[in-house]
This record gives sequence, C-alpha cells and structure tokens, in this order.
Amino acid sequence: MRSLISILDLSVEEIDELIAVANDIIDNPKKYAEKCHGKKLATLFFEPSTRTRLSFEAAMYELGGNVLGFSEAQSSSAAKGESVADTVRTVSCYADIIAMRHPKEGAPLVASMKATVPIINAGDGGHNHPTQTLTDLLTIQREKGRLNNLTVGFCGDLKFGRTVHSLIEALSRYTGIKIILISPDELKLPSYVKQDVLKKHNIEYVQTTDLEAVMPELDILYMTRVQRERFFNEEDYLRLKDSYILTPEKLKTAKSDLAILHPLPRVNEIAVAIDDDPRACYFRQVLNGKFVRMALILKLLEENS
Ligand code: NCD
Repeated sequence: MRSLISILDLSVEEIDELIAVANDIIDNPKKYAEKCHGKKLATLFFEPSTRTRLSFEAAMYELGGNVLGFSEAQSSSAAKGESVADTVRTVSCYADIIAMRHPKEGAPLVASMKATVPIINAGDGGHNHPTQTLTDLLTIQREKGRLNNLTVGFCGDLKFGRTVHSLIEALSRYTGIKIILISPDELKLPSYVKQDVLKKHNIEYVQTTDLEAVMPELDILYMTRVQRERFFNEEDYLRLKDSYILTPEKLKTAKSDLAILHPLPRVNEIAVAIDDDPRACYFRQVLNGKFVRMALILKLLEENS
C-alpha cells in the first residue's frame, strides 16, 4: 500500500510529475472533473485546520469524488479512548483514501501500517507536513520557474514548524540550494534536521537571528507562525511570539523578485500591508495547495487500484 508519510517517500521524479499534473489541472480543470467518480476520501483531523482539510475536501470534490470525516478528535471515538490503529482500520472499510492530521509525531505512520487504504500525512505534531511541502514546491516552481539555484530563508519557529522540516528535506535534493535559518536561539532548527538533512546532503546553510541582515540575499522568504500549541508554557510563547514581524519597511532591501511564502495561518508575523505587494505569494500558495492535492489523490488512487 503506497502512502505519503514523509516527503522523502516521493522521489524527485515523482515530485516533478505531481507538479506537472497540478499545472495541467490548473490549465485544463474539465479534463479531471470525473476522474474520482465513485471514490471517497476520508479526512481524519485530530488537530485544528482550515486550509489543509478544506483543500483536501475541495480537491476530492473537483475530481468528482466524495468526502467524509471528522474535524476534531472530540467528535470521534478517540474521545472514548479508541486507538489510531483501530480508527483507521474502521475508516478503511468506508473510504478509498485517508488524509490524517494528528498532534502526535508518528501517528500517520502507525496508521499506514494498519490501514488497508493509502494514508496521507496531513501534519503530525512538530514533525512533518509533506502535502504543504508539495504546495510550497509548486508555488516556488510557478513563481520562480525553477527549484534549483535558490537562496531560501526560513524565518520564525524553525523548532516546531513541521512545514519547515519537510520543505528543507525536499529542497536538499535539488542543486544550488542555500538555506538561511532565521530564528530566535530557542526556536532553532532541531539538530536532527541539521544532521540528517543539511549536513548529510552537504547543503550550504547559515543560522542567524537577524532577518534584516540577510534580506538582500533571499530569493524565497518562508515566514512561519510561532507554534503556540507545541509550547510547554504560555510565558515562553508570549515572549517569543512577535520575534519577527515582516513590514514594508523591512522589505526595502529585498530583491524585486523575492517570493514571500507562508503556510498560513498568519498571526502577526506578516503585516497585512504586505498582502498587496506582488512578492506576497501566500494566497496564491493556498490555491496551489488544492491543485497539488488533486494530483496526489489521483496518483495514490491509481497506484493502489
Ligand atoms: C501549517 C501546519 O498546520 O503545520 N498550516 C498548514 O497546514 N497550512 C502551519 C501552521 O499551523 O503554522
């Protein structure tokens, strides 16, 4: 059974193919309108979500399929103490494919060992978020026309930000990538990502606390929210939450073709005044997320049929 738990479950060639299919869907939506007729996607969300869950659901509807699921653990039998393993064995009886988000790292992997249909990891704790990465890669490809020879700045909560971990893993397989890690000391990229990904692939990287100092170098600026729900105490969150706020003033030294990405939700870290700047890509990124999830659903259903 082919699932998607980590972005590294897909080869670079498969990612290129998913991006190509997503671009074709954007250009020829009618061609895909009945591709999943009679198929069902279950969305099992044990953690809050707006974009990821609704984009999966919109994706399946636009492929002519149907959707079932739950959007909070409290409304499922998890509230009665059911294990993830039993929940997915059950849902495998009702659906052809499952997208699952869970606060515990590794829960979707466990689910994939028990389910009899493909599992898509829609975010597991502070670990991974591979479909956000597909969204980010499609966005970078559409905005910049390439996925190599890029200087990419990641700014904010690099410790708990799962979208950061997955995107760094993905980018480490392209050439000419330089990574700039911008965070407060307490929210630095975990050392396992540095060791297992950046060092292992000989990716050039620097760590800094100073966003403005590195701004002129960046081709991509990937802003992130400080992940309140992963903090052990509220005081630390309150102290760190506004570490970086991107304002028009701070963009003055940026490249004219910088692409500003953010997985969203935004709290304070990008001033609303930037939304109208042509370099702000985050709402185009949202739309790309639906198309690339359509491509992914098609691929996993075809491979497992
Ligand atoms: C992200 C997530 O859930 O990790 N959101 C998303 O899926 N677009 C980022 C976040 O919550 O900050």
